Amino acid sequence: MFKSLEKFSGQHAVITGGSSGIGKAVAKSLAQQGANISIIARDGAKLEAAKQEISASMIDAQQKILTISADVTQAKTLELAIQKAIAELGRPQILITSAGIAIPGYFAELSLEIFEKTMAVNYFGSLYAIKAVLPEMLAAGRGQIVLISSGAGLIGLYGYSAYSPSKFALRGLAESLRGELKTKGIKVSIVYPPDTDTPQLVQENKTKPLETKKITASAETWTAEGVAQAIVRGIEQKIFAIAPGWEMNILHRWHSLLTPLLNWYFDRLVSQVGQKNSKLS
Ligand SMILES: NC(=O)c1ccc[n+]([C@@H]2O[C@H](COP(=O)([O-])OP(=O)(O)OC[C@H]3O[C@@H](n4cnc5c(N)ncnc54)[C@H](OP(=O)(O)O)[C@@H]3O)[C@@H](O)[C@H]2O)c1
Repeated sequence: MFKSLEKFSGQHAVITGGSSGIGKAVAKSLAQQGANISIIARDGAKLEAAKQEISASMIDAQQKILTISADVTQAKTLELAIQKAIAELGRPQILITSAGIAIPGYFAELSLEIFEKTMAVNYFGSLYAIKAVLPEMLAAGRGQIVLISSGAGLIGLYGYSAYSPSKFALRGLAESLRGELKTKGIKVSIVYPPDTDTPQLVQENKTKPLETKKITASAETWTAEGVAQAIVRGIEQKIFAIAPGWEMNILHRWHSLLTPLLNWYFDRLVSQVGQKNSKLS
């Protein structure tokens, strides 16, 4: 039987949000390097379709792809889902928390429910997943936890008052956990993807204020595969802050210094939209 010598051969990666976009692209990339994969999301049909795609990337007939339908905002449900993944594919070496939502809009018009739901999925959904895999990683004395934040987790952006804080919270969690878990042999990474062409971005664009569109238009939009490559490289090299591309790299390293300059530039863009609107009315 062909035995793969690939980097992730025989490893088990649990990926929340692995049925779509960045999570699915990372799953395919890890499958290409020999990993067994458990993907967790809510929609069963999307999970099944993703399984077909991820399976096509496998390099060894012995690899396994498992799908589990669960809502990451339900701590107990998610714990049971991860226990099922462990029972079927063994102790996970890698956890990637990619399940996320983004609902942009004007603060005054966003309902409280949107703020609470965004925090529940993006922040607590990631935290619950870590809680569920951690005992296994601690027992093994090794593991890698990869949290997916955003460029909006480095700088608060116009129109992202629900989303940005949830991604800032993940940064705080990753930075707090890094040192604590390092001593137990567990590596933590945090990813700051740029705008990426996924179903989430399509959905976001439906409610994005014009001002937000103007601000984000200046940045390059990546493919999910490009972001996944950067993430997998970051996992291999055990990098703490994975910032794909030069724009995210600069933002990640220099955001505190750059914020006044960026705010000045963004305010100009916002006022241009205001002037255009007042001419039209
Ligand atoms: N796309 C971008 O431009 C961009 C930029 C920066 C950061 N990010 C971050 O990258 C991550 C992945 O985003 P994406 O663009 O790949 O989005 P996507 O294509 O919409 O995928 C989101 C995934 O999360 C799952 N999900 C959503 N809510 C869930 C819940 N309550 N419980 C379980 N699973 C849930 C979805 O499946 P179900 O709906 O079936 O549950 C899907 O598998 C997110 O955290 C996002 O914030 C994205």
